[in-house]
Amino acid sequence: SSNQMWGGRFSAGPDAIMEAINASIGFDQRMAAQDIAGSRAHAAMLAATGILSDSDAEAIRKGLLTVLSEIEGGTFQFSTALEDIHMNVEARLKEIIGEPAGRLHTGRSRNDQVATDFKLWVRDQFDAAIEGLQALIRALLAQAEAGADWVMPGFTHLQTAQPVTWGHHMMAYVEMFGRDVGRFRDARARMNECPLGAAALAGTSFPIDRHMTAQALGFDRPAANSLDAVSDRDFALEFLADASICAMHLSRFAEELVIWSSAQFRFVTLSDRFSTGSSIMPQKKNPDAAELIRAKIGRIFGANVALMTVMKGLPLAYSKDMQEDKEQVFDAADNLMLALAAMEGMVRDMSANRESLAAAAGSGFSTATDLADWLVRVLNMPFRDAHHVTGTLVALAEKKGCDLPDLTLGDMQSVHAEITDDVFGVLGVENSVASRTSYGGTAPEQVRAQIARWKEVLG
Ligand code: ARG
Repeated sequence: SSNQMWGGRFSAGPDAIMEAINASIGFDQRMAAQDIAGSRAHAAMLAATGILSDSDAEAIRKGLLTVLSEIEGGTFQFSTALEDIHMNVEARLKEIIGEPAGRLHTGRSRNDQVATDFKLWVRDQFDAAIEGLQALIRALLAQAEAGADWVMPGFTHLQTAQPVTWGHHMMAYVEMFGRDVGRFRDARARMNECPLGAAALAGTSFPIDRHMTAQALGFDRPAANSLDAVSDRDFALEFLADASICAMHLSRFAEELVIWSSAQFRFVTLSDRFSTGSSIMPQKKNPDAAELIRAKIGRIFGANVALMTVMKGLPLAYSKDMQEDKEQVFDAADNLMLALAAMEGMVRDMSANRESLAAAAGSGFSTATDLADWLVRVLNMPFRDAHHVTGTLVALAEKKGCDLPDLTLGDMQSVHAEITDDVFGVLGVENSVASRTSYGGTAPEQVRAQIARWKEVLG
């Protein structure tokens, strides 16, 4: 039999393969609540503008509530033949209320309907991502506060560079996740324009009130161009781009946790609640959550690339290609939220090993820069010469198999005669971090100032 929505023009129904490739109900049923909210706003507007009788609007309103409760209660029978959530809802509405259901689609099309539904769904994800990030930032702030003055090695090239504080390292991630919050907020503000009423592509001859529906659905204004309104998926792409950057940050942090929780580093101990064991090696405690978070960037960035590729080269306005937008965004959003929650739990539960951090902080000649700075400051040596003298001292210590503070004054003076006992005062890691008082530096007082600022930002 031919289709109940467009059967007028058709004499034959679709091939089974056609139905299989065409249907989106398998996934777009996730937008049922948004679809019904959009239809309710549309029907109320049609009544307010006199396009629909009040009694028909009321029948539609009640019927839509029944459909929603059936879907929420799990009794709704989704049909692949009805292709998508929009036609499934409308067909069921017709079964429930009869003739008035056929008047709901006046002055709209599935093209503006799907754009509206999807925008409402993605808008919630922007909010959820921001909430998840804020919870993670709070967990990082607690870690930073507890260890604001704990020393640890700072790395470049994953080689010991200079001592830093644990709090400073935690706060670096607070900055990164804070920028992610800003990105999600910016994009959410930009996307909040309502496509409903753009109709198929050209607008409609019915005297609809697009400002009314936009307001009812929490949008700032109606989208200003009907062609753009139905063919724009920038909001989904911005979500995926922002999610990709956020997932990249999560992945970098996860990588550090994997390294830090190893027996060779022992910088942190992850809780049992966020670790797994091995089925064969009894001693194992594996950082699986961190590893999976590290991997999530793959599918999230993949979704970003996939949708960019779908959208590139599409002529205006709607093309069915755009139905491929939803699964990518659903999957990316689900996995981003899961990764954020897992990271928050892991950070909340983990304990930093102060002794291991401190022991590592002093190894690897981490205060060599402090020594060079001392030569500049006290002996008025040009920095390049000081760099060379310090390098020679590092080589000497390496040859003797000791660290810089273990060299004797005699050792020091054999390289440069003017060095005095005073130099040993700058070779300790505590002194080193305490001296980095420039704005944004690793000194505990600077770290505490940044923690205080962030607490104020979060309120
Ligand atoms: N299922 C479709 C989608 O997700 C709804 C819009 C269909 N519009 C159309 N002109 N065929 O994009």
